[in-house]
Amino acid sequence: MNEQWHERIAVVGAGVMGSGIATLAIGHGVSVVLVDVDEVALETGRRRIAQQSRHAQLMGALPEGTTPGSLVTTTDLSGVDGASAVIEAVTESPEVKAAVLGEVSGVVGPGVPLVSNTSGIPIGELAGSVPVPRDLVGTHFMNPSYLITMVEVSRGPKTSDVTVDALLDLLATLRRRAVIVRDAPGFVTSRLLHPMINKAANLVGEGIAAAEEVDQLMQGCLGHRTGPLRTGDLIGLDNLVDSLLALHERTGDEACRPCDLLLAKVRDGELGRKTGRGFYRYEEAMF
Ligand SMILES: NC(=O)c1ccc[n+]([C@@H]2O[C@H](COP(=O)([O-])OP(=O)(O)OC[C@H]3O[C@@H](n4cnc5c(N)ncnc54)[C@H](O)[C@@H]3O)[C@@H](O)[C@H]2O)c1
Repeated sequence: MNEQWHERIAVVGAGVMGSGIATLAIGHGVSVVLVDVDEVALETGRRRIAQQSRHAQLMGALPEGTTPGSLVTTTDLSGVDGASAVIEAVTESPEVKAAVLGEVSGVVGPGVPLVSNTSGIPIGELAGSVPVPRDLVGTHFMNPSYLITMVEVSRGPKTSDVTVDALLDLLATLRRRAVIVRDAPGFVTSRLLHPMINKAANLVGEGIAAAEEVDQLMQGCLGHRTGPLRTGDLIGLDNLVDSLLALHERTGDEACRPCDLLLAKVRDGELGRKTGRGFYRYEEAMF
């Protein structure tokens, strides 16, 4: 392990992924400055991190005897200054990500790895927003990132070996395994998973089966661990729709055009676990 990573990283975006990644880092002894434009998101993020840290502990997902890292939250992006790496986990929008990455790179300066956590926006596309594209690399942490030990890494056409090595070093500190894939819309996992969830939602929309039945069949017959619609609820249906749109726009794959039921659920604020209601109802709206 490289001692350098036991200092402090910055996570920008305190939503589902940003708080999960912060939980993971803190639990492995790495301090985090968590940045979001929205004070309410930061407040929710702090509660999520506390709750997820307890859950991670109960699940034996954190190293024993490690002093947890500290957590600082701020709405001021200049808070990333001094971080040894910045993980951007803001909304899945190329414009929002480009603006954040451009601003962050101006604060940390060259040589600090900028890690974009995206479901499907190519790193090569985001590279135009930073002055030093070799510092930019992509991750696709899965949710919940403090429990899932595999991380998909996408290397942009201009990402340097130094940046990739620094990211792998950080992931090793966080005890995550990495698989590096070529940069492309949706990489591997979203290219496979997102159209599948979209099709599952469409089956419900067409009245062919209820959500529970679709998930039961995928679990019982095909060995899917949770079922696609429970997975959609965990991802967040707003993020799922944004990611499908990003994929559809870049690949032309009609299987990635969000189906009517998904769009209706997002319109009605039924975003999955984060709002307590999606394809299922949840008493606990946080995880
Ligand atoms: N949800 C998942 O399961 C999942 C899995 C893998 C990857 N991702 C990707 O991770 C990223 C984050 O997804 P999420 O599910 O956490 O989204 P989310 O909607 O839960 O959170 C996004 C956060 O970004 C913040 N934000 C927006 N603009 C900002 C800005 N300019 N500066 C700082 N913060 C800003 C929002 O306030 C919000 O709190 C997306 O790119 C998504 O595609 C999500």
